[in-house]
Amino acid sequence: PEKDDEEFDEQHHLREGIYYALKYAGVFFHRHLVETDEAEKAREYLQQRGYDRSIIKKYGLGYAPAGGDKLYKTAIDSGIKEEYLLESGLVKPSNRDDGFYDAFRGRLMFPIFNPSGKVIAYAGRVLGEEKAAKYINSPQTKVYDKSSVLYGINFAKNEIRKTDEVILVEGYTDVISLQQKGIDNVAASSGTSLTPRQMKLLHRYGDTITMIYDSDSAGQRAMKRGINIALREGMDVNLLELPKGEDPDSFVRQFGKDSFLEMKKEESENFLTYQIHKAKEEGRWENPAEKKNVISEILESIAHMPDPVSRETFVQHLNSKAKVGDRALFDELGKIRKDL
Ligand code: CTP
Ligand code: MN
Ligand code: MN
Ligand code: MN
Ligand code: MN
Repeated sequence: PEKDDEEFDEQHHLREGIYYALKYAGVFFHRHLVETDEAEKAREYLQQRGYDRSIIKKYGLGYAPAGGDKLYKTAIDSGIKEEYLLESGLVKPSNRDDGFYDAFRGRLMFPIFNPSGKVIAYAGRVLGEEKAAKYINSPQTKVYDKSSVLYGINFAKNEIRKTDEVILVEGYTDVISLQQKGIDNVAASSGTSLTPRQMKLLHRYGDTITMIYDSDSAGQRAMKRGINIALREGMDVNLLELPKGEDPDSFVRQFGKDSFLEMKKEESENFLTYQIHKAKEEGRWENPAEKKNVISEILESIAHMPDPVSRETFVQHLNSKAKVGDRALFDELGKIRKDL
């Protein structure tokens, strides 16, 4: 046991050191954004996107200088251990010499917070539409596991509790723009398809999830994949498809909060209605062979629901739309559940 205690202490210290390095970097990046000539372009860019001072401060946005190792040098001079800088993913060993370089260079910086508001990682965005990867993210570390993080959850959790609903979006800027407009119960899956761990985290705060992903095909595909993961967690699942070419950020900036909420109220659908609506749009509902496949897909979603009464209700609802008889639907549902 004594050895375990030592091991525990060491891990604890390492984690605290990583948190400290991440926090230090936040101040560094933010100060560079606000104060330096180099960041003029970044400040203009944020202004162009409609981000005001208070939202920049709230989200701790920053700028990573383009020089190769400015963060590394400044942090070391301030007494931060090299080990913590490395383990935080902020700094990387050079493969040319025995020096180090900053992982984020010349990018707009978004701190990623855990539910209690501690910085656990960063995302860096290129300015404008350059060819480099639009976002780069911190690597997996001892304090950051991408598959269980929800961006914005620290600011959203109280409002999710109040409304029992979370609006799930894809991106960092979607969260920031919606929250800047006063829609607080919003979090982002950050581009990855939704994971069971992200779902579990959301379920701590509320029972209803409304997914509003980008209207492009990647976004719509990811939204569809998210349905069963959310259902399996026992959430009520609603979906909203935005007009072509829009994501929540672009929509709310153009049309405002009221239009956004109005559209959500009028046009979001539960998963079953959404799936039938999509099938109709794709011409699959009129064709008997295709319709059978659509029904199977919907039954597969229903099969993920842990609550038997909810399953019953949705099967009956499906039958009212598909009119193939309860009996056939329940038989098929039974088969699917056995294989799940
Ligand atoms: N993403 C990522 N790495 C990329 C591209 C995207 O991690 N190379 C994640 C980010 O969390 C991003 C989200 O996926 O916010 C959605 O991607 P996208 O729609 O392309 O970006 P937006 O969030 O819309 O950003 P912007 O409006 O600045 O283009
Ligand atoms: Mn619940
Ligand atoms: Mn997208
Ligand atoms: Mn966008
Ligand atoms: Mn987007």
